[in-house]
Amino acid sequence: MRKFLLALDQGTTSSRAIVFDPDGRPVEKVSKEIRQIYPRPGWVEHDPEEIWSSQLEVARQAILAAGLEPGDIAVVGITNQRETVVIWDKETGRPLYNAIVWQCRRTAPLCEELRRSPLAGEIKGKTGLVIDAYFSATKIKWLLDNVPGIREGADRGRVLCGTIDSWLLWRLTGGQVHATDYSNASRTMLFNIHELKWEEDLLRELGIPATILPEVRPSCGYFGTTDRAIFGVPVPVTGMAGDQQAALFGQCCFTPGMVKNTYGTGCFILMNAGTEVPVSKRGLLSTIAWGIGNEVYYALEGSVFIAGAVVQWLRDELGLIASAAESEEYALRVEDTNGVFFVPAFVGLGAPYWDMYARGTICGLTRGANKYHLVRAALEAIAYQTKAVLDAMVSDTGIVLQGMRIDGGAAQNNFLMQFQADLIQIPVDRPKVNETTALGAAFLAGLGAGVYSGLEEIKNKWQVDRTFTPRMSLDKAAVLYRNWEKAVARAKDWA
Ligand code: G3P
Repeated sequence: MRKFLLALDQGTTSSRAIVFDPDGRPVEKVSKEIRQIYPRPGWVEHDPEEIWSSQLEVARQAILAAGLEPGDIAVVGITNQRETVVIWDKETGRPLYNAIVWQCRRTAPLCEELRRSPLAGEIKGKTGLVIDAYFSATKIKWLLDNVPGIREGADRGRVLCGTIDSWLLWRLTGGQVHATDYSNASRTMLFNIHELKWEEDLLRELGIPATILPEVRPSCGYFGTTDRAIFGVPVPVTGMAGDQQAALFGQCCFTPGMVKNTYGTGCFILMNAGTEVPVSKRGLLSTIAWGIGNEVYYALEGSVFIAGAVVQWLRDELGLIASAAESEEYALRVEDTNGVFFVPAFVGLGAPYWDMYARGTICGLTRGANKYHLVRAALEAIAYQTKAVLDAMVSDTGIVLQGMRIDGGAAQNNFLMQFQADLIQIPVDRPKVNETTALGAAFLAGLGAGVYSGLEEIKNKWQVDRTFTPRMSLDKAAVLYRNWEKAVARAKDWA
């Protein structure tokens, strides 16, 4: 009998595939890095063909490595880097340009224009998002306006566009299904999160034809069946969600007020906000967590653009550390940062600051500062940025946080997680399964296919690996954080 769940997790730096057993235990995991393309300063692209081929390769390998046959896979769940857009030709199936990645800043000027448009005041209310180059809307407009032939192709009905989930689904189904889910659609800045439909006024303002956009569906349920050429046997795709929402699901944050933080390239902190659209006065985003049947759950989100990426930068650009793991060892060689604060605003600052023109800044250097201090300051910056978002969440909702569930690469860094708990003064829980993004996609797919009876059954599968309890005094944490805020003020409005 088919019983395994296959999660495809297409992220910013790699394509991953994980086979889970029905209890949510990872059986096999395969990942492959994808190339980052930087055509100009601030621009970031991926090759859509590479996204597809790497995803397919790891999916096939994961099934094989697990000692399974494709026929053992009950369902496929898709999760993905969000906001990144692909545009392709419906007839040839070929991409018409590289994927424009969520980190890409090329549309900052377009966002300035949009901020001056009559619609500006309505965008936050309707889409839940702030006007920023981060989201898909201006990326799609840029493609239509700047790549020769795309607008004409769209007018002739030849062009399809979507976020990575819809690109993968379209290829998996052999070009049969062009669809996305609520959680991904809610990151485009084109989707009305109250009415659950593409927002016509915005499409008109940006000159984006609705015909190129995917159909939007709940995150859980039948999306389509893989083409026979993919695995040899057809497999249903029954779950789909943006990676951060999938992680919220995989962390079983099903109750309003529960929070998770994924420490990946960036840091993404999401709070389950229940079935009403939350409103933030503190620079957080209101977004769709998932749709199951007729019920839609919302989340408050704080997106921090650079988190784990700062560790990569120390390794690849400065050569200060040989591996990401070494950052923990270096940080622990010193007692503190010796007054050094590092704001890694390499691509501007996201929540709650939202400054497209902020740039990386290191403050407080003295003759006594050494590389260990700098490495420690880089790690601490990840925790400070998280605290800024959590403070905004508490002030927006009035909820007293009981804890935070964590995952992602840097969640394995015990120094960082302890510093995080110290700074926010609440316990930080690391689960046994760290691959919560993929797990969330597998859970959604399983739920969509009736493998699970409901959220209660899924919730019982979550297990804690380690809890980090605050050890630092509140006063000390407050002083450190005040200095961080001074450093942020210096990083702002630079470019
Ligand atoms: O919003 C961007 C986010 O979805 C990217 O996540 O894990 O691929 O860095 P990740």
